[in-house]
Amino acid sequence: MLIVGNLKMYMNYNAVKELIDNFDEDVVLCPSALFIPYFLNHKYKVGVQDISMYDLGSHTGEISAKQAKEMGVNYAIVGHSERRKYNKETDEEINKKVIKGLEEGLNVILCIGENKGEDKEEVITKQLLNDLKNVTNFDNLIIAYEPIWCIGTGITPTNEQIETTISFIETKIQENFKKHVKVLYGGSVDKDNINVLKKVNNLSGFLIGKASTDYRQLKDIVASLRD
Ligand code: 13P
Repeated sequence: MLIVGNLKMYMNYNAVKELIDNFDEDVVLCPSALFIPYFLNHKYKVGVQDISMYDLGSHTGEISAKQAKEMGVNYAIVGHSERRKYNKETDEEINKKVIKGLEEGLNVILCIGENKGEDKEEVITKQLLNDLKNVTNFDNLIIAYEPIWCIGTGITPTNEQIETTISFIETKIQENFKKHVKVLYGGSVDKDNINVLKKVNNLSGFLIGKASTDYRQLKDIVASLRD
């Protein structure tokens, strides 16, 4: 099971230091880019929360896939719903980021998922087809199914709902790209619900937000998944 912590912009320097001093498990942690050097050279692997769709060049505030790779970063989250919403990222831009990340040899975690009231299958199909356009090598691609109504809300879908959605994603990928893909679940995963969520059949792991910023909770989650 792959465990990925999306630390978002939750942590200041002291919190980062506390986590690093107390946590050394084999997971993937995606901190604010500023703190990445502190996270390197531990048992965990490191990811960025976003990458530029461009190569090196005049792009103020951006981080390229090439730079991330050079620094020892192995993973990149792309298309998180918070970036789709607050940074107005389009599927076209996300597609370019996915391609750039894969080209540079990063493991790309593409986030998809519907909001409350939206047609789940329609949203997911559109995201998959647009965000993965012209992608041919799926070896380093991971899909994270993160229903927006579950992010930071304390609500999770039932295991049956997650299982059905993952099957749907797998079928769409198979139909359109003739490939297999690993799928993670993300949205309000914590130490209390992990024992239930880990029973989802076709799951390859979890993308964890808030709970991953608390090393005690993260240790509990790792222990439960390694059981
Ligand atoms: P929470 O685990 O805080 O709900 O966040 C999920 C998420 O957005 C991970 O990318």
